[in-house]
Amino acid sequence: MSDSWLERADRALLGNYYPARLTLVRGEGCRVVDDSGRSYLDLIGGIAVNSLGHCHPAVVRAIREQCGTLMHVSNLYRNPWSVRLAEALSAHLPGSRAFFCNSGAEANEAAIKLARRHAATTRGPGRDVLVSAEGSFHGRTYAALTATGQPKYREGFERLVPGFRYVPYGDLGALAAALSDDVCAVLLEPIQGESGVRLPPPGYLAGAAELCARSGALLLLDEVQTGLGRTGTFLACEAEGVLPDVVTLSKSLGGGLPLGAMLARGEAAKAFVPGSHASTFGGNPVACAAALAFLEVLESENLLSRVRETGEWFMGELRGLAARKPKVLAVRGRGLLIAVDLAVPAKEVALAAEQRGYLVNAVQEQSLRFAPPFIVTREELAGFLAALEDILA
Ligand SMILES: Cc1ncc(COP(=O)(O)O)c(C=O)c1O
Repeated sequence: MSDSWLERADRALLGNYYPARLTLVRGEGCRVVDDSGRSYLDLIGGIAVNSLGHCHPAVVRAIREQCGTLMHVSNLYRNPWSVRLAEALSAHLPGSRAFFCNSGAEANEAAIKLARRHAATTRGPGRDVLVSAEGSFHGRTYAALTATGQPKYREGFERLVPGFRYVPYGDLGALAAALSDDVCAVLLEPIQGESGVRLPPPGYLAGAAELCARSGALLLLDEVQTGLGRTGTFLACEAEGVLPDVVTLSKSLGGGLPLGAMLARGEAAKAFVPGSHASTFGGNPVACAAALAFLEVLESENLLSRVRETGEWFMGELRGLAARKPKVLAVRGRGLLIAVDLAVPAKEVALAAEQRGYLVNAVQEQSLRFAPPFIVTREELAGFLAALEDILA
């Protein structure tokens, strides 16, 4: 087998991903290495997953230790690591209890099921409509896909799950109009990540929470991309002073291992009873031990303030670049979830950046997204800014 990994991948793996240009074989801190030995600064971090950088020693240690202690037991039994993780997460959504799964889509799937069951058991039948936003992204499983307010992801997969309704993101009037008596829940991202880091107008989340409370619908916040410190607070909704009924998490939660969580509080937490929902691997000891290590480092290294400071500085520099280079049309973001709109194809810029040793993501045709590890330094980002200026010259 002398073919490259890329050629072998194209033969061996299904064609659902765009062809890749790199095969990555190693990572440490903010850098990854390809199969030719070339090193790159990773400014997308496995799509907002590698928040502590690659192979953080504390996470690696926790995983190694856990693998030699207990790897899997299923949910026929309890395990201490999932209990400790649920307790730790509950501190960030007071009064909440956790359900663990393996991905963001699964966490949203659980939230949608919980919302329907909550409405069915507390308000009676016929209240199964879920309202989500245009431009949203909630994952690829059927209910999460149906909730995803971007037709391009749904094409060819009809028929979708019945009972979903879409509203323009950021428009409280439209949300109020959509909240008829048959609505069980509203599902929103605090910032829309996949559609290009779109921030709603200030007060939108608080307004949505108020509308939900008045109508009896639950507010479900998809913090799969924005949560766990990515935007500079543990949950993005904290910055808006909003306390949702349900929060979904994944991405960096497992420190690089697959792990998702749904946190539910108040009456919503009572909607699942024994047998309502399950996942064989949910709460897996190794993934939970990795998550506990991730949370500990987040706190002990005071990374939230670092995310805020580095993010502000980086966005300021990008805005300076926009002032000098008309090809940079806009800069958006919060913390270390940032996008720039360009007057040129983002894929071409991402390729040119890759050739200069920087990994960035063309999240939309004309938008680049950055979700670097929280430990990225100003010097590293300054190197990228110089490369970007050169590319745009
Ligand atoms: C906001 C949001 N929700 C859900 C998902 C789906 O997560 P996963 O790919 O782990 O299923 C994503 C993935 O990018 C996301 O950004």
